[in-house]
Amino acid sequence: MTHTVSLHVNGKHQQSEVDAGTPLIDHLRHGLRLTGAHVGCRSASCGACTVLLDGRTVKSCCVLAVEADGAEVETVENGDDELDDIQRAFVEAQAMQCGFCTPGMIVSVRALLAENPHPSDDEARAAIRGNLCRCTGYTNILKAITMAAENRDESSLSTE
Ligand code: FES
Ligand code: FES
Repeated sequence: MTHTVSLHVNGKHQQSEVDAGTPLIDHLRHGLRLTGAHVGCRSASCGACTVLLDGRTVKSCCVLAVEADGAEVETVENGDDELDDIQRAFVEAQAMQCGFCTPGMIVSVRALLAENPHPSDDEARAAIRGNLCRCTGYTNILKAITMAAENRDESSLSTE
């Protein structure tokens, strides 16, 4: 059985007929062709599918698309072809190897810096505790979070 699902995805209104059992991640990837969020475990463990739902991080493998009806959804793409400041910091800090975890990690960092522009190391670790990385050992990811926060400080100083 299908339902009409209306979402604001990366600032754009999207209305679709979606099967009642379709996870949000599958609707995003296959219905809306937003393939940035990845599918790893499908059991809320790895965080590869992390997106923002009304500003809060969720594992989109464990939310049905119909449950998200009417919500604002932000994926790693965020409607922009340019890299954002967090994505640039990940590149500069070499915070990825295979890159599988990276989209979900970046979405979690967006949520962190929106709420806490100057996270401590422990706060940064806590923010990405739901995002597993099998490659990097997390050191460069934490470095990228620090760099992104510092770059925001510098750009806000230069515009004052
Ligand atoms: Fe959703 Fe792993 S695919 S948490
Ligand atoms: Fe490979 Fe994180 S870079 S899983």
